[in-house]
Amino acid sequence: MAEFNTAAHLQEVLDSFSHCEDARFKEIMTSVVRHLHACVAELKLSPEEWISSVKFLTATGAICTDKRQEFILLSDLLGVSTLTVGINQHRGDDCLEETVEGPFYWKGAPELPLGADISTGVSGEKAYYYGKVLDANGCAVANALLDVWSGDGDGNYDMQLPEQTEMLARGKFRTDAQGRYSFWSIKPSYYPIPQDGPAGLMQGKLERHPNRPGHVHFKISADGFYPVNTQLFVANGPYLESDCVFGVKPSLIVNYIEHAAGITPDGKHLNSTYYSVPFDFRLTAA
Ligand code: BEZ
Ligand code: FE
Repeated sequence: MAEFNTAAHLQEVLDSFSHCEDARFKEIMTSVVRHLHACVAELKLSPEEWISSVKFLTATGAICTDKRQEFILLSDLLGVSTLTVGINQHRGDDCLEETVEGPFYWKGAPELPLGADISTGVSGEKAYYYGKVLDANGCAVANALLDVWSGDGDGNYDMQLPEQTEMLARGKFRTDAQGRYSFWSIKPSYYPIPQDGPAGLMQGKLERHPNRPGHVHFKISADGFYPVNTQLFVANGPYLESDCVFGVKPSLIVNYIEHAAGITPDGKHLNSTYYSVPFDFRLTAA
């Protein structure tokens, strides 16, 4: 019996796209189908294995809600999010590095005055974040918007807490005329990505640990500059070397400087120890 002609079959499928008028869509579909066929042929995938892939994707979609995005998690765990961010946002080694947005961004955080505290109701040790947004020459970028979010000191995001309907540890801040920003939040803990869905089960089956190192997310934008999605990572914490979503960049690892109780850098009096986290963000002109 002659072998099935995989090359002719692939060509027949690609030829069927010939009337597509959207050139980019056609290019994407051609590449996806080429790689998919090559993968199935190389693996000699059985019908049962193919159906289990379909079931896996079906389950991935079924668990998604407005607060849970399992496809983003899957893309993060497979390194595809870091790849797309890297090839689209990398502006050179001296500039602020980009990293993944992750599935816990919640649009519409309140814009707050500089120095505001977003740690109310959030477990964890207090931390004061401050610094400047600068251009490539070190000049201040005024009116830059920093959209900030993080999990808490126990490794949970507000969206993951069953009873929590309001935002926690989220806020937007605008730099002043000198490019300065500041706000209070907490020192975030490392945490495991959700493991009760298909993406987490895949991670377990690959015998990979499910943890991200402690970090705070920033979406930074300013007129005339490329927007950047990034994170600051807590130095000396666990999983910096093996982030399960491949998001850590050495330039984004920051020291949390510990302080005794007393007068804080913004002139408040705190009864507990706290951290300060100085960091300047360097944007690239668009
Ligand atoms: C996060 O940083 O929030 C995150 C990123 C990727 C997967 C899961 C969580
Ligand atoms: Fe995160």
